[in-house]
Amino acid sequence: MFIDGIAVAAGGPAQAQGADVLVIDDEQFMCEGCRQTLEAEGYRAAVAPDGRRGLEIVQRVRPKVVLVDLKMPGMTGTEVIARISEIDPSIVSIVITGYGSVESAVDSMKLGASDFLTKPFEPDRLIESVRRGVELNETRRAAPPVPAEVPAPAAAPEAEAPDKPAVLLSGLETLGQYYALGLDRSDFLAEMKRLEAEARYHAETLGQIKRKERRVLDLVHDLRLVDEVIAKHEYHKDALLQILLDVQEELNWLPRHALRWTARRLNVPLAAIYTIASFYEALSLEPRGEHLVEVCLGTACHVRGAPELLTRVSSVLGIQAGQTDPQQLFTLRTVHCMGCCALAPAMKVDGQYFSDPSVKQLQAMADAYRPEREPACQG
Ligand code: FES
Repeated sequence: MFIDGIAVAAGGPAQAQGADVLVIDDEQFMCEGCRQTLEAEGYRAAVAPDGRRGLEIVQRVRPKVVLVDLKMPGMTGTEVIARISEIDPSIVSIVITGYGSVESAVDSMKLGASDFLTKPFEPDRLIESVRRGVELNETRRAAPPVPAEVPAPAAAPEAEAPDKPAVLLSGLETLGQYYALGLDRSDFLAEMKRLEAEARYHAETLGQIKRKERRVLDLVHDLRLVDEVIAKHEYHKDALLQILLDVQEELNWLPRHALRWTARRLNVPLAAIYTIASFYEALSLEPRGEHLVEVCLGTACHVRGAPELLTRVSSVLGIQAGQTDPQQLFTLRTVHCMGCCALAPAMKVDGQYFSDPSVKQLQAMADAYRPEREPACQG
């Protein structure tokens, strides 16, 4: 025979010819629209014009998901959902209504509905909601039978997930409501795991998107600075060295994207720019620390103890000449005569000169540059 759009063999095993999804709605166009959309996605769909006939189909066919209109003649949608939970708790109910409100959504969820679609809804929204419903139904059906003694409410799952994202907490709240309606512990735990996996997935995806967004913003920021520098030099190719110095002044080093952008804007070969950037000691193709520490190894400084000074500086900063510390606070490098031989052995920090500082003075200097430390005296 034919019940409301689904073929059910008379006297035969109803589930063998069952539907995956049942739509209960007194609006015929809504039933048909949902059915066609779902069948196009490969679901077997059935329809019913009211709660009474819908429940008949539920009894016979045991669909995985039931879409229920809230306002129908005869039984209301909430009554239908409550009956469905009694008939088979694994069946997933989804509310479809043109009278969406927070209160009706909460009431539906309390009765066991897994989702709430406000008419008119997009086909994609329907398909996604049904997909999740089918998944939930399969999880429930795969869960072991209800134990004889029902364990105490969900203290253990909450202790397992004290720091999960808000989405998980909201899911747990809903599950608490399911649990209050008598769902067994196995169902609860299976659903908990599914929600936890979903929360992790969304958190990771969101993190990746935010990291990419940050990188793009940084790139745009850098290229804008390069443009400003080039414009300041009125796009003169002859000013290339000064442009590179100015770009480095802004970015603290010369990243590849800045060099490529410079080459493009000035219409000069990238190789020529790299030749210049590699030749001049003042230009850095590696990320540099926030503060540049230079120790002079020129002749005058050398004879007056520059190697010992370099050893002291390396020891205080924890890096060798040519290195940058992991926090990218200091870069240490050596130079040959800074033009202040009277201070020999001399060193420079961010352009400020020092003469033969002791370990104690160096330590005070380093502390002054480190964040959240009180500035110390300089040598
Ligand atoms: S040799 Fe060191 S400043 Fe001249």
